[in-house]
Formats: sequence, structure tokens, C-alpha cells
Amino acid sequence: MLGFSAIQLAHPADADEMSLERLAREGRLTRPPPADLALPGDDVTRRALGYLHASCGHCHNPRRPPPTGLRCYDPQKPLDLSLSVDRFGSPQDTPVYRTTFGRVVAPGRPDDSPLFRRVSRDALFRARMPPLATEAIDPAAVTVLRDWIAGLAARLARAVEESLHFGVRARGCSID
Ligand code: HEC
Repeated sequence: MLGFSAIQLAHPADADEMSLERLAREGRLTRPPPADLALPGDDVTRRALGYLHASCGHCHNPRRPPPTGLRCYDPQKPLDLSLSVDRFGSPQDTPVYRTTFGRVVAPGRPDDSPLFRRVSRDALFRARMPPLATEAIDPAAVTVLRDWIAGLAARLARAVEESLHFGVRARGCSID
């Protein structure tokens, strides 16, 4: 991890431990975050989103300061692997879901997903990700990303079905 953000500090803590909730309660933050910062989605989704935010989001996001000179690590593609507290409603709201599918993530097919390949193997001509502060492949990260991408097609289909049913219920009719 190269740094941390409010989201990483928003874990449950004992009363004597420092936490985001305690910092906000004691009035020590200039811009306190919303009370509930729980990541959306099931366990696998939350782990994947958290990993991508912590290990990749500080380079792959559209809010970096403009460059003042040549930057060593400056991704040009519009990938956003960060989390933002105002895009937290559902996994589909997150920048990861909005910017990776069909580009670097093939839902259901980890080995065909450039995002997975960049983390899970050494490539001859392309940098392994993250490109600094790592020497070895992280097997825990590989497992999380493989499980997330492998289950994505089914999870997305379920989400579409749920929103269709919701729309039908909201209009007061039935499709059964
Ligand atoms: C220190 C900055 C930095 C970090 C951290 C970082 N990347 Fe990158 N990434 C880059 C740069 C620069 C490029 C463009 C150069 C290249 O393709 O190797 C890139 C390229 C990529 C690409 C190829 C994009 C495309 O469309 O061709 C993917 C996929 C990627 N990164 C995924 C990740 C993932 C996943 C992580 C976290 C595990 C991560 N990156 C962490 C800087 C970073």
C-alpha cells in the first residue's frame, strides 16, 4: 500500500483505538465523511474494490494534480480504480465498474482480463501492476481478483434481473 484514504480508516475500532468515526466525533476533520462508509456488494466484491482502491487507485484515477514536469508513472488510459465516497450506492456505481468492463476486465473470464494478467503474472514487455513498491506477485490479491472476475458475469446478471423486477414492481404490474 502506498498511502491511505478515509475509506481504509473506516473500519470498526475499539473505544480506545483511533478511528475515522472517532476523528469525526472529536471534530478533528475539516470535511468529515458521511457516517456510513461500508463498501457495497458481497464479500468478494468488497475485497476486490478495496484492494484496487488501496493498491491501484492513487495512480489510476482522474483527479490527480496536473503534471508539472515529466512523471514516472502516469497512466494515460481512462481507467479509474479508486473508490469515492459519493459513488458508494452499489458496486455498479463505482468507477471500477464504470471504467473497466469490456476494456481491461472480461466479466467471468479472469485469464482474458488484462487487469488480472497485470497483477497475476510477470510480463516480458508490460509492467506488472502496481509497477512500484512490489517485488513479488501477491497470491492473496491474485485470489481476490480471480474470484471477483470469475463470479462477475453471474453477479451482473442477477443485478440486472433484480432491477427489472424492481421496475416492474414499482409500476404495479407483473411479469410472472
Ligand atoms: C505507481 C502508479 C501505478 C499504480 C500504483 C498502478 N498502476 Fe497500472 N499503470 C500505470 C501506468 C503508468 C500504466 C501505463 C503503462 C503501462 O501500460 O505499463 C499502467 C497501466 C495499467 C493497465 C493497462 C491499461 C490499458 O488499458 O492498457 C492496467 C490494466 C493496470 N495498469 C492495472 C493496474 C492495477 C490492477 C493496479 C493495482 C494492482 C495498478 N495498475 C497500479 C501506473 C500504475
